[in-house]
Amino acid sequence: MTELKATFPKGFLWGGATAANQFEGAYLEGGKGLTIADISPGGKERMALLRSNDYPLEINEAKYTYPNHVGIDFYHRYQEDIALFAEMGFKTFRMSISWARIFPNGDDAEPNEAGLQYYENVIDELKKHNIEPTITISHYETPLHLVKEYGGWKNRQLIDLFEKYARTILERFHKKVTYWMTFNEINTGILGSFFTLGMRNESLQNNFQALHNQFVASSKAVKIAHELNPDIKIGCMSIYATMYAYDSNPDNVMGMVEENRMFNYFCNDVQVRGEYPTYALKYFERNNITLDIQPGELDLMKEHTVDYLSFSYYMSSAFSKNPEHSDKSQGNFFGGVKNPFLEASEWGWEIDPVGLRIALCDLYGRYGVPLYISENGLGAIDQPDANFYVTDDYRIDYLRKHIEEMEKAIRLDGVDLFAYTPWGCIDLVSASTGEMAKRYGFIYVDLDDEGNGTMNRYKKKSFDWYQQVIATNGANLANN
Ligand code: BG6
Repeated sequence: MTELKATFPKGFLWGGATAANQFEGAYLEGGKGLTIADISPGGKERMALLRSNDYPLEINEAKYTYPNHVGIDFYHRYQEDIALFAEMGFKTFRMSISWARIFPNGDDAEPNEAGLQYYENVIDELKKHNIEPTITISHYETPLHLVKEYGGWKNRQLIDLFEKYARTILERFHKKVTYWMTFNEINTGILGSFFTLGMRNESLQNNFQALHNQFVASSKAVKIAHELNPDIKIGCMSIYATMYAYDSNPDNVMGMVEENRMFNYFCNDVQVRGEYPTYALKYFERNNITLDIQPGELDLMKEHTVDYLSFSYYMSSAFSKNPEHSDKSQGNFFGGVKNPFLEASEWGWEIDPVGLRIALCDLYGRYGVPLYISENGLGAIDQPDANFYVTDDYRIDYLRKHIEEMEKAIRLDGVDLFAYTPWGCIDLVSASTGEMAKRYGFIYVDLDDEGNGTMNRYKKKSFDWYQQVIATNGANLANN
């Protein structure tokens, strides 16, 4: 009989999560090329702009701001920031490697040593503080050149280019880094996300071909990682939004089942189970989608599945076919109908801690592989006092309630959860709105959307709280 785990297991990986394009800044330093994030403007209209085909794939400083070009300058301040993470007691730190720091155009013959050295320095600094890096190989950072010249991920050539990039960083860091993830929130590709696919407003056919190419690329990375070091743990990463039927109307329940399959399961089914599920094959048939699958690719995907499943969890979603339920909730990539039982963040994301336990039970029940919550948190407007201290009880409250549900999932449901990295552990630029105003961090960064501020770092109230959570391995969640 399997031994049942009680509360947070010894060695649980508490930490925090970031992405290169949202906090490094130094967007043209060290030989780096442009990525799709670098041409994405700041401001609430960001997502709509990126969906519109006439938005140019160029930087236009006369018209837009680009807060992510400076980010929070982690590129130069990583030692100070990592020392703060260490003070909080981080066991792991999730970061991405920006592909264009390693291959500035994505198709260069040789890697950029300055980029490799920069990441080696960051990794060494983390290890010096006994923090295990978790590296996302691709977090919305496809080199821009691959979008402009190759048409983004629908082009099969990106598989080989990605393989070369993944091999380069895995060969360099496989002895120092155990935890890896391939594509961030890969399932946003189903919605045609520019960040994920490097394509805008294309057909379902192209979106699913692009995803297929990413599945193959991901399996290649898994294969390389395991060949280099069998101890490496490499996972997939999806957004998970717990789906509810708005009510017990069977039509709404069936609609929820369909949404849930394509959004929450499809990419995980392929990457964890190693094959296209039958419901997806039927979906392809109905929508006249014919994938170009080369010989050997399905075998590769079957043979090189991921070691663990990671997911971001911010909110749940309710489904209704009833036109009277027209009041929509907001989300970073999607929004269902408003759930009358839930409150929402200032950005309209519905807050649902119990939904996280449901997610953990659902995913562990379906796949039986270890789970890693690679993002979770509350984006909020912080009001620092005269000493730059932020009393962020709202953030503590959000995180505490989610951690309580994680604890129940481990203790009561037997879920194998091994890591938790709240998003934006230090304030950084938002992905959906490209602004600094939406903050998630335990550490306040003195910087506004117009670039004003010293960029000095200040501990928020949640810093001390999270330190205590980690020190007690999740046993003391009290907000004193
Ligand atoms: C996830 C992304 O969708 O949500 C992150 O992986 C992103 O890159 C995070 O920052 C929070 O979203 P936002 O839009 O509030 O920054």
